Amino acid sequence: MLAQVAEALALQAGEIACDCTLGGAGHTLALAADLTPGGMLIGIDRDPLALKVASERMASGFPDLRFVALHGNFSDLDDLLLEVCTPGVDAFLFDLGVSSPQLDLPERGFSYARSAPLDMRLDPGEPTLNAAEIINTTNEADLTWILRFYGEERWAARIAHHIVEVRQRRPLATTDELVELIREAIPAGARRTGGNPAKRSFQALRIAVNGELDALRTGLEAAIRWLNPAGRIVVISYHSLEDRIVKELFARMAQGCICPPEAPVCTCGHTPILTSVSRRPLTPASEEIEVNPRAASAKLRWAIKEAE
Ligand SMILES: C[S@@+](CC[C@H](N)C(=O)[O-])C[C@H]1O[C@@H](n2cnc3c(N)ncnc32)[C@H](O)[C@@H]1O
Repeated sequence: MLAQVAEALALQAGEIACDCTLGGAGHTLALAADLTPGGMLIGIDRDPLALKVASERMASGFPDLRFVALHGNFSDLDDLLLEVCTPGVDAFLFDLGVSSPQLDLPERGFSYARSAPLDMRLDPGEPTLNAAEIINTTNEADLTWILRFYGEERWAARIAHHIVEVRQRRPLATTDELVELIREAIPAGARRTGGNPAKRSFQALRIAVNGELDALRTGLEAAIRWLNPAGRIVVISYHSLEDRIVKELFARMAQGCICPPEAPVCTCGHTPILTSVSRRPLTPASEEIEVNPRAASAKLRWAIKEAE
C-alpha cells in the first residue's frame, strides 16, 4: 500500500518521520527521499534481526538524511524518542504485525505451515513467556479466553480443552503438534471450510505472547502526543481487533465537546486533537494482493493532528 501510505504521510524535505515498525525497511526505503535534504528518519523495531537487516539496507544511499535505528517496543515510544532528542515528530507510520521474513523463518515459530519450536516472540531476547510456555501453563479458562478473544475462534473451548488434556501426558513443543491438536479438536465439517483451521489460534497466541493489543493502544496514544501540529499518522492493520483499536482511538481523539446534548453551554472544554480522520479504511488494490496475498487483509487508516 505504498502509494496510499506516501499520500497520507505527505512527507516534506526537512521533516522528522518515525517508522514504528521498520521491518525490512520496505516503506522506509521508499519514503526516505521525500524527507531530503535535511530530514530525519527514526526506525523502530522490536526484532533485533529486522533492525540489523533494515540498517544495512539504509546504510548506503541517503547522505542528506539522518537515519536512526532504535531497538524496542513502540509501546515505549516516549523513552525511545527521548533517546534521539527530538522535539516532536511530523509523521508516524505503524505497519502492524509480523513481516514476511519473520513468517518465513521457521525457527521463529510464527507460521502454522512450517515445522518449528513454538516461540512467536517478536524479540527473542525478551524475558517473556513464549508460545510453548503459554500453551503448557495457562489454565483452560484463560486459554479459551485467549483463543476466543484474540483469535475470534469459534471452537476456542474445544481446542483449549483438548490442549489441556494432551499436555497432561506430554508438554507441547512444536508448531506441528499444535496444528495437529487443533485439527483433532474441531468438528470434521469445520476443518474443511475457511482455510487452515490453525490460523486463528496462531494469531491468538502471537497476540498473547507479544501483548500486541496493549502495545498498540499505548504506542498510538504516545505517537499522537508526540505529533507536531498538522502532523500525520498512518496505521496499517491486518485483523479486526487491531483495526477496531485504531478506529476507536482516532474517533475519540477527533471528538469535540462531550457535554450531554441537553447542556445549555459547554462545560467540558474538550477539543479535537485530530482534525481530519479517514472515514473508511483504505484497502490494497487487487493487483497488489495478487503479488502479495498476505496484503489481502490490510486496512489503512490515517489522521492529521490539529494545526496549533
Ligand atoms: C509488517 S512488518 C513491517 C514491514 C515494513 N513496513 C516493511 O516495509 O518492511 C511489522 C514489523 O513490526 C515489528 N513490530 C511489531 N510490533 C512491534 C512493536 N510493538 N514494537 C516495535 N516493533 C514491532 C515486527 O517485528 C515487524 O518487523
